[in-house]
Amino acid sequence: MAQRKSTKGNNRDTQTNTHSNHASIKTSSHQGKRIAKATLLLVLSIFVSAGLLSFLCCFDYTTLTGPRQVTTTITKPPIITLHRFPRQCGVVQNQTQPVSEDGTNKNKPRSNHSRPPTCPSYFRWIYEDLRPWRETGVTREILEKARSKAHFRVIILDGRVYVKKYRRPIETRDTFTLWGIVQLLQWYPGRLPDLELLFDADDRPTVRSIDYRGQQHPGPPPVFRYCSNDASLDIVFPDWSFWGWAELNIKPWAKSLVAIEEGNKMTQWEDRVPYAYWRGNPNVARTRKDLLRCNVSDQEDWNTRLYINDWATEFKEGFKNSNLENQCTHRYKIYIEGWAWSVSEKYIMACDSMTLNVRPTYYDFLIRGMVPLQHYWPIRDLGKCRSLKHAVHWGNTHVDQARKIGEEGSRYIREEVSMEYVYDYMFHLMNEYAKLLKFKPEIPLGAKEITTDSMGCPAKGRWRDFMAESMVMSPSEVSPCEMPLPYSPMELREVLERKANLTRQVEVWEDQYYQAKTIGRNGSGYVLKYLQMKYVYDYMFHILQSYGKLMKMNVEVPEGAKEVCPETMACPVKGGRMRQYMDDSLILSPSNKGSCETPPPFEDDELKKFLEKKKSVEKEVEKWTNEYWEEQNKSLQH
Ligand SMILES: *[C@@H]1O[C@H](CO)[C@@H](O)[C@H](O)[C@H]1NC(C)=O
Ligand SMILES: *[C@@H]1O[C@H](CO)[C@@H](O)[C@H](O)[C@H]1NC(C)=O
Ligand SMILES: *[C@@H]1O[C@H](CO)[C@@H](O)[C@H](O)[C@H]1NC(C)=O
Ligand SMILES: *[C@@H]1O[C@H](CO)[C@@H](O)[C@H](O)[C@H]1NC(C)=O
Ligand SMILES: *[C@@H]1O[C@H](CO)[C@@H](O)[C@H](O)[C@H]1NC(C)=O
Ligand SMILES: *[C@@H]1O[C@H](CO)[C@@H](O)[C@H](O)[C@H]1NC(C)=O
Repeated sequence: MAQRKSTKGNNRDTQTNTHSNHASIKTSSHQGKRIAKATLLLVLSIFVSAGLLSFLCCFDYTTLTGPRQVTTTITKPPIITLHRFPRQCGVVQNQTQPVSEDGTNKNKPRSNHSRPPTCPSYFRWIYEDLRPWRETGVTREILEKARSKAHFRVIILDGRVYVKKYRRPIETRDTFTLWGIVQLLQWYPGRLPDLELLFDADDRPTVRSIDYRGQQHPGPPPVFRYCSNDASLDIVFPDWSFWGWAELNIKPWAKSLVAIEEGNKMTQWEDRVPYAYWRGNPNVARTRKDLLRCNVSDQEDWNTRLYINDWATEFKEGFKNSNLENQCTHRYKIYIEGWAWSVSEKYIMACDSMTLNVRPTYYDFLIRGMVPLQHYWPIRDLGKCRSLKHAVHWGNTHVDQARKIGEEGSRYIREEVSMEYVYDYMFHLMNEYAKLLKFKPEIPLGAKEITTDSMGCPAKGRWRDFMAESMVMSPSEVSPCEMPLPYSPMELREVLERKANLTRQVEVWEDQYYQAKTIGRNGSGYVLKYLQMKYVYDYMFHILQSYGKLMKMNVEVPEGAKEVCPETMACPVKGGRMRQYMDDSLILSPSNKGSCETPPPFEDDELKKFLEKKKSVEKEVEKWTNEYWEEQNKSLQH
């Protein structure tokens, strides 16, 4: 593949230069962004291919085909739109294979008529994300406040999508996000309401809730982005990688899933390496650098195996080490955030391995549906090495439970975050959002319509392949899943509390595990310190001295008694172990220090208390033992 494409090398180089110049101009002006630029997502920005950077100037209005549904109420099966892409517009790049061999589109979301009618529970967060505008709605004025933060504006009007771009984001995130929206309209044609939304394609949330408290702020700017956190009001939307991450050769989600499922079959759980695996770029966040300290070394084995992914080498070698499907070889896989949330999450989760989730600060649209100990194992951010070591120890001593957590996490990702549900999430989010709009959406000056053809036809290389692979060929045969009801304040509190409790539970186990280690250390500390021979002699000295003080008689040497001294005892013993031990324990010269001082005697209740304390600790441990066996008996009976 690489060789076949080599003729485009010059083209790519040109682009490389252009793009890195562009990046460096930005970086010098913004220190904060400089770090952002260093993110994993960015490492490859220098490899951005020519394909889509300039697609805006290549709109081909003649490719618009077929009548479109124009109202939002029609539910009749809509007319199937025929596209030139990828078949007939492949003049420029015909050498890349656009569709799968048999001509069918394997990546079309599967229609499954037995799909449960209610959406997965993480859809309920849509209401929470839109809550800040529930009273005020989104007026034109409120919307335009988001303009300065946005990379682009999406307008959906009469079933068509238009875009107006403001700034260029990292790599081609915007392209694949827009592609996803165009495909959504293909999947549910004529069913999306008119709307205008503003999208910020950078990593970190920007709408701080603290800035929008009180009466003087009628409504925060509604900014759509890929992730948010508890201190922000950004609205989360599925990220571009569901349609592919061309710069890193990460295929569209539906296709990645198939590959990872194959990879899963290659190594059965029993045969997987019983350590925690991570592979990634540590330079994007301090917490990742911190993680690397947990790698196995001569001094310490934290039960981890960590590797740095060097994307530049990966690129040169055709991504052979970063293939996701080849990374399902360990029983435990670590998920850790990068500059913000990390796209790697879903691929890690899909491996059937137990995910060790280093406490995240950001959330994307899917993570909020996951529960500790059901879908993943929570890891402390502070003290992560100890936490990881314990997690792996727990997993290796509770193999069935660990395996179940791994499988349940994967099932969640495969089934509840399937492409169908990704489209459903987008659909419902946009629908609920549109209900809040207090103005009639308009197409602003300079906006362009985007379609499958207008985006796909000019695309080249992997960009084009991924578009072809993630293209929706025909509308869904089923309606979107039904939105669940919003959380009541009490339900929401309970959900959060339950998660916090489960995380706390794991932390308690961890503390107990390390307590066991401390007891061991304290025990040997006691012996090593207080059972030195010096103290044994001191003890003998003091007890004999105290005993001697009690003598109410004259001490006499009885008949037949013999004086003993080292010579008389040792000299007759000729060699052997006995002689050896005598030699080894012979005192050669008197102590030059006095004996230690005896502490004062126990007071009456002091001794009683000491013994009672010992007893009660013993009772407590006995209780734990009984509880443990009752549990075991119960689970045996079931
Ligand atoms: C593209 O390739 C297909 C099959 O490989 C071929 O049938 C078609 O004619 C080619 N199109 C052009 C414009 O070269
Ligand atoms: C459809 O969904 C059901 C339940 O969700 C599942 O058991 C079944 O395997 C799915 N069928 C197909 C063809 O995907
Ligand atoms: C972690 O340790 C393994 C095993 O010694 C080694 O192969 C790997 O390169 C180390 N990773 C890093 C990032 O140093
Ligand atoms: C969480 O733990 C607290 C204290 O142990 C308990 O009172 C509460 O009911 C738990 N909440 C949930 C939702 O499990
Ligand atoms: C171990 O020893 C230290 C210091 O003597 C003490 O503070 C700690 O409580 C002991 N740990 C346990 C588990 O008894
Ligand atoms: C568990 O079951 C065994 C045999 O069935 C019984 O002897 C034992 O007392 C039980 N232990 C507890 C703690 O219930």
